Amino acid sequence: MKRKCKMAVVGFGQRGCAYVKMIMDHPAAELTAVCEASPDRAESFARELGLKGVPIFRSVEDLIARGDFEAVVITLPDYLHGVSAIACCNAGKHVMLEKPMAPTAAECREIIQAIIRNNCKVQIGFVLRHHPIFRRVIEIARSGELGQILNITSTEHIGVMHGASYMRRWHRKTANSGGFILAKCSHDIDIISTVAGAPAVRVASFGSLDFFTPDKLKYRYCSQCPDETCRFRFKGEMVRMSESEKNAPSKAEKPFDLCVYNDDKDVVDHQVAIIDYANGVKANFALNLFAQVAKRTICVAGTEAILYADTADESITLHNSVTGKTRKIDCKAENTSGHGGSDEAFLDDFIDCVLSDRPSGVDFRAGLSSTVIGNAIEEARLTNKVVEIPQEAYLW
Ligand SMILES: NC(=O)c1ccc[n+]([C@@H]2O[C@H](COP(=O)([O-])OP(=O)(O)OC[C@H]3O[C@@H](n4cnc5c(N)ncnc54)[C@H](O)[C@@H]3O)[C@@H](O)[C@H]2O)c1
Repeated sequence: MKRKCKMAVVGFGQRGCAYVKMIMDHPAAELTAVCEASPDRAESFARELGLKGVPIFRSVEDLIARGDFEAVVITLPDYLHGVSAIACCNAGKHVMLEKPMAPTAAECREIIQAIIRNNCKVQIGFVLRHHPIFRRVIEIARSGELGQILNITSTEHIGVMHGASYMRRWHRKTANSGGFILAKCSHDIDIISTVAGAPAVRVASFGSLDFFTPDKLKYRYCSQCPDETCRFRFKGEMVRMSESEKNAPSKAEKPFDLCVYNDDKDVVDHQVAIIDYANGVKANFALNLFAQVAKRTICVAGTEAILYADTADESITLHNSVTGKTRKIDCKAENTSGHGGSDEAFLDDFIDCVLSDRPSGVDFRAGLSSTVIGNAIEEARLTNKVVEIPQEAYLW
């Protein structure tokens, strides 16, 4: 029998719980440790998920000193990715690091130095690379079927309560995440850049906070607010709460039910970006937070064919202007895990790369590139200028 990969999960929150469950069920993995700063959350989620006999450490330092694991999944808030990933690499562990790699390119480069110094495998959490639609979109773009690719048009329509959660959680502050586009859409930047197949050289962007404005704030927390009809009223969406947090969401160390109109945030509620790639491909991306049907779309236009894909339709349509033919490709999820079945496939890929000799599927180059472009987009938005990206920005 093949040996199992001994794994730890750091950050036992919304995403960490999903990974803990998937690792517990994985035939090639063994969950040997968890790390979570809050004892209340650790206890509550361990009980909920039936975690028995798995040690839970309070800090990354303690996990490294006393834990028995060869690979770690880091699902901490973005601003803790750098320090935790570097500590794990320095301890010789292989790392699955959630996206974005880090809020700034400088931090990404520090992580990369640690990866190289310690010869670790690091996979960045761009799960959409395994999404049945985006996997095919990338294959088709690379196959030459579209001719010379000229334009990419892409959107993310975030479900309304998912969008609202970005106004009240730690992502609401740019310092914690690098800005909305990087925090939520580093996936999309990664997919667009992979399809484009060249480094981005300049970007422009417009975006602002025009709906979730503080002038509409009446009560700081939903639990204090009498307006039961508010469509953004917090009902536990998009977070994982312990029993005590559920009972008093506004009393938690980081309150969960902050009013979406709060004045303690600096992110946007809509944004567009334009990206120019070194090979002449031009891309545009639009983000909105108020979708009834959450979905992503991408249109890739080449000189011979145009591809349209929509995650809600689970299909790709190709119109070929040379043959005059249209082809439809069904891309159904292969399992019920998150992101259209990508999460399980992504974890399989990481475990396989740790247990075998091959390098990781989505390595640090993708993580650095997405953060470099995301930082440039944020700079373009804030300065109202086209921002050039020098090629040295992609070096480490
Ligand atoms: N790949 C994806 O599609 C995807 C989806 C959701 C979230 N994410 C990423 O996952 C990460 C976590 O997001 P989340 O929504 O689960 O956040 P979360 O706030 O729900 O969970 C983070 C957990 O980390 C714990 N924590 C904080 N500081 C700690 C420390 N120093 N040591 C140990 N534990 C600590 C918190 O108590 C919390 O339980 C983020 O980077 C986010 O961008 C990725």
